[in-house]
Amino acid sequence: MPIGIFDSGYGGLTILKEIAERMPRYDYLYLGDNARAPYGSRSFDIVYDFTLQAVKALFDRGCHLVILACNTASAKALRSIQQNDLPVIDPARRVLGVIRPTVEILPEVSKTKHIGLLATPGTVASHSYAMELDKMDPGMSIVEHACPMWVPIIENREADSPGADYFVKKYIDEIMSVDPEIDTLVLGCTHYPLLLDKIRLYAPPGVRIFAQGRRVADSLYDYMARHPEIDDKCSKNGNIEFLTTESPQKFDSLASLFLGKKVKSSRIVLT
Ligand code: DGL
Repeated sequence: MPIGIFDSGYGGLTILKEIAERMPRYDYLYLGDNARAPYGSRSFDIVYDFTLQAVKALFDRGCHLVILACNTASAKALRSIQQNDLPVIDPARRVLGVIRPTVEILPEVSKTKHIGLLATPGTVASHSYAMELDKMDPGMSIVEHACPMWVPIIENREADSPGADYFVKKYIDEIMSVDPEIDTLVLGCTHYPLLLDKIRLYAPPGVRIFAQGRRVADSLYDYMARHPEIDDKCSKNGNIEFLTTESPQKFDSLASLFLGKKVKSSRIVLT
């Protein structure tokens, strides 16, 4: 049974790429809700409803473990799904997010203890990063800054355009002016690595850009070692399959570009 990987659109591919490199023997089933992306400015209830539909669809296709490779869904839907839905649907299945594993490593990453978070308006409004970081190390500070234009730019394939430069510089200048002591900018949205070159270009020298894919992959690897009961349920033939709620042709061209290999997705309707 494959490991389910869910995102609102293309962003979760940045997580899938790292996970599949770290754990190549496993099978994966990726689901991008491209037809309804972006999720970032949607209300709590809508993100929860859409995410639950996706998790159920992945469960129906045999996944015992689903990773919400989406910060917005992790921030707004993960806890409710874990606490309220899983016990009813099937207490033996698991849904994990990307925020906790990312925050866990931050005390080791930052020297100044000043973190900047770049994320969707939904993730920022949830304050999930600030709350998790406070539990981990109350001595650290975090500025959470919303970047509402970045996901639409990426989903509309404008990541290489001059318009993208404008919005990348704008949000980085804004967050750095709030706290110039920030030494680590966390990309708290799985889409943002698609803008990595421009983010590096406009970040002040010496400021580290932290993309979460590798960290999430390491954390999942450890999780599997600690949870053989889940690991045993995951098939290991090295296959990756893709589902999208948009047109498969549209999904395949950008996904293939991003993953560096041919992708052939199928359309799924979520209800
Ligand atoms: N990639 C997602 C995230 O990590 C969601 C972006 C969006 O749909 O707005 O937050």
